[in-house]
Amino acid sequence: MEFISEEIDKYCEAHTTEENELLKQLNRATHVNVLSARMLSGHFQGRFLSMLSQMIRPQNILEIGTYTGYSALCLAEGLSDDGRLITIDINEELENFVRKYLSQSDISHKIDYRIGNALEIIPTLDITFDLVFIDADKMNYANYYDLVFDKVRSGGYILSDNVLWSGKVADSTKKDKDTLNLRAYNQKLHDDSRVENILLPIRDGLSIIRKK
Ligand SMILES: C[S@@+](CC[C@H](N)C(=O)[O-])C[C@H]1O[C@@H](n2cnc3c(N)ncnc32)[C@H](O)[C@@H]1O
Repeated sequence: MEFISEEIDKYCEAHTTEENELLKQLNRATHVNVLSARMLSGHFQGRFLSMLSQMIRPQNILEIGTYTGYSALCLAEGLSDDGRLITIDINEELENFVRKYLSQSDISHKIDYRIGNALEIIPTLDITFDLVFIDADKMNYANYYDLVFDKVRSGGYILSDNVLWSGKVADSTKKDKDTLNLRAYNQKLHDDSRVENILLPIRDGLSIIRKK
């Protein structure tokens, strides 16, 4: 579902900085070779993630849900000179594909790609994060949020992708599992007095919380 008209969508993309050559190739290769290419953040959201990251200049970023590495490369663009991004994905089948593209980036040394279940890996991370991007299985968004919360510095940010779930969260007749989970997740963030929150209708919905 598009939240704005196709015409305006195209206009916004046309007036947004282009992807670099590596991101273009990764975007194309994902669509040609990998299942569910719709999961990739893509040009517009990728530039938004990069812009946010460059505004924050994080020292440490955690990404939950690497997929083919597109959003990891975008977020890593804003890292401070000695910054590091840890990105976790449970799908080992994509490892060679992901490493092939990450290794071609001139910021590959800043990206720590880990294969495994984020629910098990996050508790082992003794790091304070400036920015977290939650973009894995929807049923565990609340668990990821709870697991990372104490690891985010005061004034740090947590981004969550797909929180509009094609608009279904705003339609009370939609009661499938993922919709119910995301609806409860959005409410949980909205009710959390420890944060400021904003839900943006970008692509499939992207929320930003700032920890007070
Ligand atoms: C929507 S995709 C991520 C897209 C990517 N962030 C981007 O924007 O290009 C979701 C990913 O989460 C991964 N995933 C699902 N459950 C997971 C878990 N428990 N731990 C780590 N990764 C998980 C999936 O394998 C999938 O690659």
